[in-house]
Amino acid sequence: MKKICVIGLGYIGLPTAALLANRGYEVHGVDVVKSTVDIINRGEIHIVEPELDTFVKAAVNSGKLKADLKPAEADVFIIAVPTPFHEGYVPNVDYIVSATKAIVPYVKGGDIVILESTSPVGTTDMMESVLKENGVDTTKLYIAHCPERVLPGQIMRELVENDRIVGGTTSEATAVTVEFYKTFVSGEVLSTDAKTAEMAKLTENSFRDTNIAFANELSILCDKFAIDVWELIALANRHPRVNILQPGAGVGGHCIAVDPWFIVHAGGEDAKMIRTAREVNTYKTEWAIEKIKNAALKFENENGRKAKVACMGLAFKPDIDDLRESPALFITRRLLADGLDVLAVEPNISEHKEFEVVNYSEAIEEADVVTFLVAHKEFKNLDIETDLDFCGVTNK
Ligand SMILES: NC(=O)c1ccc[n+]([C@@H]2O[C@H](COP(=O)([O-])OP(=O)(O)OC[C@H]3O[C@@H](n4cnc5c(N)ncnc54)[C@H](O)[C@@H]3O)[C@@H](O)[C@H]2O)c1
Repeated sequence: MKKICVIGLGYIGLPTAALLANRGYEVHGVDVVKSTVDIINRGEIHIVEPELDTFVKAAVNSGKLKADLKPAEADVFIIAVPTPFHEGYVPNVDYIVSATKAIVPYVKGGDIVILESTSPVGTTDMMESVLKENGVDTTKLYIAHCPERVLPGQIMRELVENDRIVGGTTSEATAVTVEFYKTFVSGEVLSTDAKTAEMAKLTENSFRDTNIAFANELSILCDKFAIDVWELIALANRHPRVNILQPGAGVGGHCIAVDPWFIVHAGGEDAKMIRTAREVNTYKTEWAIEKIKNAALKFENENGRKAKVACMGLAFKPDIDDLRESPALFITRRLLADGLDVLAVEPNISEHKEFEVVNYSEAIEEADVVTFLVAHKEFKNLDIETDLDFCGVTNK
């Protein structure tokens, strides 16, 4: 196994391609976006991730990593394309289908084909069917799913150190793929079948979602009972077997807020708790919007003018610039759409195409109502009292 073809050069594919190239593999990276291909071939990067620039530069300079718009022959194919959902939370595996079709002319007997994208149960089998329907003799291939579980910000370390789950469509495929991962992973590489591997990844994210939903529901109940939820959770967590997570303005990001729907879509009526957790987390965002609007209305009634509302944070979690599926962004957009006078604050970005991004100290100075949506480090030592701290940042 010398040549690797990585399809999809985003947050997962590019670090994987660069790591493998630095480990001596010849890597052919593929992306459908020309500017991405060009940037990588210059030894530069198009995404923000610590240490990735060094890895990509070294890989390109040594000639071990080349990016292209088309796949090439290889011993191992790794598919790391997006898996969002369509309208109505229906999983969208279109990118996987088109990436699979794209490798058809290049796969040959003995090759390994790995799906790394987070996928609904049955997608690896579906990938095999797509290859078969397009004339590939899949009995001679090793096809497996190996879900990725890295944390953005620590990808280069976690790619190597995390334990991995490998599930093949046959036991031979599992065994051969495990051997491949063992060449660059220092964590344990665990064997299972394809469906279990797919469900394991979805389960990990649903576990997080469900536990955050519990904390979010507590926060709503505590507001009703006039109890400080942060103090409550800190106290309850002193029980040796209790570990409640922190509430927030909802749940965001392209993983935890998305993947549980893959289970709900296939599980239907039987996915009761996982669906409810998604609904509770979505409701928490709506609940926060109502509270902010009520505070703004109260100010207007008392002062005879519209309130200026500072929305502190837009990202989906603290200290990052990622706004994907962000409840804070959703809240800010909704307040604006509903006619409120909003000051949008996000210390991790300099501009946004929809609204002016205001410096946090200026926003606080100018605002009549301040709401904390994300617990960014910049907000931690501000001396502000507000009932609208949805992320507990003023408690820390
Ligand atoms: N980013 C994370 O932290 C993370 C963690 C675990 C799992 N995942 C999963 O990994 C998968 C990839 O996520 P990502 O964050 O790298 O996405 P991304 O959007 O950063 O990158 C995907 C890349 O694939 C390219 N692409 C789309 N269709 C293509 C095709 N047919 N052929 C070639 N390239 C194509 C896109 O242009 C893009 O550059 C998703 O399933 C995601 O859920 C992501």
